[in-house]
Formats: sequence, C-alpha cells, structure tokens
Amino acid sequence: MTDHKYVFYGTIIDTPDPLTLRIRKQHVCVVNKGKIEIIEPSASRNLDEHQNFTFIKLNESQFICPGFVDLHCHAPQYRQAGSATEVPLLEWLSKFTFPNEARCSDPSYARDLYTKLVSRLLRNGTTTTQYFATIHLEATKILADICQEKGQRAYIGKVCADQNSPDFYIETADESVRNTEEFINYVHHMQKGRDVAGTNALIHPVITPRFIPTCSINLLSQLGQLAKKYDVHVQSHMSETADQVAFVHYLYPSIGNGRDVAIFHETGLLTNKAVFAHGVYLADNEVDEMITRGSAVASCPVANFLFSKGVTAIEHLRNRGLNVGLGTDIGGGYSSSMLPVVRATVFANRTMDFVSFDRSNATLPLFPEHKDAVIDFKYAFYLATLGGAQALSIDSQIGSFEVGKQFDALLIDCNKENQAFDYWKEDEMDIIFEKWVNAGDDRNITGVWVQGIKVECT
Ligand code: GUN
Ligand code: FE
Repeated sequence: MTDHKYVFYGTIIDTPDPLTLRIRKQHVCVVNKGKIEIIEPSASRNLDEHQNFTFIKLNESQFICPGFVDLHCHAPQYRQAGSATEVPLLEWLSKFTFPNEARCSDPSYARDLYTKLVSRLLRNGTTTTQYFATIHLEATKILADICQEKGQRAYIGKVCADQNSPDFYIETADESVRNTEEFINYVHHMQKGRDVAGTNALIHPVITPRFIPTCSINLLSQLGQLAKKYDVHVQSHMSETADQVAFVHYLYPSIGNGRDVAIFHETGLLTNKAVFAHGVYLADNEVDEMITRGSAVASCPVANFLFSKGVTAIEHLRNRGLNVGLGTDIGGGYSSSMLPVVRATVFANRTMDFVSFDRSNATLPLFPEHKDAVIDFKYAFYLATLGGAQALSIDSQIGSFEVGKQFDALLIDCNKENQAFDYWKEDEMDIIFEKWVNAGDDRNITGVWVQGIKVECT
C-alpha cells in the first residue's frame, strides 16, 4: 500500500466537545493524501469512484477513534518508568533521574531506548507526543529521526539546564542556547523535506527549559528570545509540588513575585505556543495571566498522585478559559499508555471533593455537590485527544474526525481473544467504548494511522 487511500465503513467515535460522545454508526470515512475527504452515512454515498482505495469494513465489535495526544513525556525516563515511585520529586530527580538521563550522552544507548519507546507509544495508540529529551544535542536529534522514521507526530525539545544539576549532567547557558538553536534548525531542515510551510510536518522543535530551578535567568531570557525569533513551541514544568514552588521563590524572590508564571512571563517564555506540565498550585490571577498569553497546561495525574499531594483543577482552569490536555509524564508517571492517564484524570477529579470531607462526621454526604462539572470517561477522552490538540494549537488539524482534518486514528476491536475485559454483543456502542476506555488496553488496538499512513508498531 503506497498511496494510502482508505475507505472505512462502520462506526466512527470521537469527542467534539467534553460533554459529547459522538457515535456515527454505518458511516463511511474516506481518507486520501493524509486527510479526511468524506464522512457520511454510508447509505447516502456512492463509492464507485473509490475503487482503487483500500476498503476496511468494521464489524459490530470494532470502531475507529482519534489517536491520543500525550502532551508531556520524558523520553529518556522510559528506562526508569515503573520504578522509584515512592520518592519525593526533588530527591527522585537527583537520585534516579539525572543519573539515568545522563546515559543519553551515548548516542547508541539513546537510539536503542528511543526506538523502543516510540514503538511502544504507537502501539499504545499515541499518535502525537510532546517530548522532553535530554541536554544532549546528538541524542535529541536521534529522537527526532526515530519519530520521523516511525511516523509519529512529535514535538521535541532538547532539555536546558545550567544550574542546580550534578556535574555530570549540566551545560553552560551558552551551550544550552547554541544547541537549542541548532536543534531548531535541524528540525526545520527535516520539515522542508515534507512541505515548505511546515504545516504537514510531523516533527516540530520545542524550546525546553527543564524547570525554573535548573535554569539561570540569563538562560531563560535567551531561550525567551529564541522563542520569539523562531516562533516555535515552548514547554517546561510549572507549579508541580510545594517544595518546587518554594525552591523557585527562594532562588528568585524578586523576579516578578518569585512564582513560576511571573518568571516565565518576565523571561519571554509564557507564549501562545507554550505548554506547562502540572499547574497544580496555580492562583486564579496566574491562570488568568496564562490565558491572556495563550499558554496551556498539561495535566499529568499519575505523576501528580505520586509527587504533588494535589491534582490539577482541570474543570476550574477550563471554566476560566485555559486550554488543558493530558500527559503521561513518563517516568514520573509509570504508564506509557494514555488510557491509565484518562482513568487517573477521572479519579483526580473525584478527589476534589475529598478535601472538604470530614471523616469523623458520618452524616456528611460522601460526594457533596460539585461546583464544577464532573469529569467522566468521555470528558477525559476529550482531554486526551482534542484537548491536547488545542493545547498545541493543532486542533484544526487533528483530535477529532472532520472533513479536511488529518487522519490520526486508531482501529479498536473490543472482541479480541486475549483482551483484558469481556465482550457482550448485546452491549450498545457507547457501553463498549466506555468499557474499552476503562478496562481495555493495547490488545484492542488493531491499527494505528498517523496522517493517513498506517504505522508499524513492533
Ligand atoms: N521537574 C523537573 N524535572 C522534572 C521531571 O523530570 N519530572 C517531573 N515530573 N517533574 C520535573
Ligand atoms: Fe515532567
């Protein structure tokens, strides 16, 4: 199959908004040159002119849905994901994470690790990932090459850190800026191979200060200038844990008000292409500042449960107008699949009520009335697809199925022999979908497409 022309016939599921699970049964979806050309009820469509397309007829246990957008993933930490889950953030960084990331100074180590990771993410249905690599330019280029070869849509940053890091894993501000600029140019050169404007490019560079404690104000300011010069994406961590917030205030008490949002703003990094992981400890005026600047938050609930002693108040942030998507935060988060992240998002939302629950008073209702909407499976699925696309400003291209959008999609089969849950043919499609989201896994993902091209996931 070289011309990548498909006609899917069957059930198409997506979430065009947080409250709507859109199920289009007995529809045709025609994909050509990477894009959706037609989505219509099949009865109304004559497909005579599509004879040379690959025809995929879905049965009653199958549907297609959008691929996942993982807004926050540390590629080198795939090596440690699933371990050291009991350690507080700053200790976890110095004891486990910096030594582990430093190993990517060896390009062949990085190539092996990143090849495994990108295959795993595609296998799990993640069609777009925003990655932190390491401080190493060579290994970061290798990650970009691998994503391009394997056909994953990827936003990739060389990590920047010129202080508060061990001797074996630190760079000077000048090296950091020079290598960041070289990486931007490297990726822009890759993009030229695909199309001139870069709109169809799969790989995109991201300016990536690790977090404020590991960056001097000189470095942050120079990175802010690069963000302006190249108009590229920005990512970092923000308001993740109480001790991280206190560390930032201790380091820079008089830059802005000594808080993450003010410091990123002062240094030119609070842009309309910036995504900040976590945002657990944000004041409302900081949220409003982010909205004014057009920045977004990547909520990473698995990591937040382990590190943050708090959760991102997603519905509260979104109600004010902030764009929010989801991230695995590999390896602060142990899951390389977005499905556990979707489930943890629902759990995190439930815990918002626990704060006011008095355990000694059994007369209180267990779930007092929510001020904000409840985040259910479909809302969380929306955040993991279209919500993530919005945070990256690519929601006109991916995240849901509309004519003219690119086809980043999964073929799900809920009746596989060795799957993790059981299938009843009497269940309606909305129930089948909910069961897959809550109890299924990659065994149900039988095909993955990015930009209309079926990718290999092994
Ligand atoms: N803050 C700075 N670096 C990291 C990291 O690697 N993971 C998480 N979760 N938080 C960070
Ligand atoms: Fe992180």
